[in-house]
Amino acid sequence: MKRPIIAPSILAADFSRLGEQVAQAERAGADWFHLDVMDGRFVPNISFGPAVVRTVRDATKLPLDVHLMIEQPEKYIDAFRSAGADVITVHQEASLHLHRVLTSIRETGAKAGVSINPSTPVSMLEPIIAEADLVLIMSVNPGYGGQKFIHAALDKIAQTRALIDRSGSRALLEVDGGIGPENAGRIVAAGADILVAGTSVFRQQDMAKAIASLRIPIMTT
Ligand code: DX5
Ligand code: ZN
Repeated sequence: MKRPIIAPSILAADFSRLGEQVAQAERAGADWFHLDVMDGRFVPNISFGPAVVRTVRDATKLPLDVHLMIEQPEKYIDAFRSAGADVITVHQEASLHLHRVLTSIRETGAKAGVSINPSTPVSMLEPIIAEADLVLIMSVNPGYGGQKFIHAALDKIAQTRALIDRSGSRALLEVDGGIGPENAGRIVAAGADILVAGTSVFRQQDMAKAIASLRIPIMTT
């Protein structure tokens, strides 16, 4: 039975008590933390930078999965690694030299992730799949939490799973946006290893119940 890694997105947390919220989510069963960095250019919203990653780093030992929704991500790899990022994910759409960026992330000792937006085909990942430790499939248009899951993402998750398997890659397959108990099972069945969940964890009264509801065991045939 496939049991997904649950990575709550701190974008949905109460920033007035971020350290407490991180500790609470960790006690509730979070496996990783997902940190959504936004620059107001690659996506319309602006969120936070390395200082917040450092704050979360000081609050937990769990892996920090930093999602760079920014232009020219290559300029910030070292800053996010020094702030405590374990995984650094850049967008294929934001990287003129994606192969070089992924290699440079690995050279810092972090895991290299690549993300594609809802309108970007999975085939764009083929030339660089060997350089990726993680593939992040966006199931919402990036920029905001609390959006509805885009159902077309299920096909892309299955295509990405097939690409990872046939290429012999060991990349983890992560899905991000609009994930809740109502769709987690289908997302894992389509091939996801990691579920990013902001609203469906941090905006819930009982975080432990919320996280458990995302871990619906899927009988893989
Ligand atoms: C959107 C972010 C997602 C978002 C997920 O740009 O990449 O991680 O915070 O939030 P929910 O789970 O609320 O859709
Ligand atoms: Zn994200």
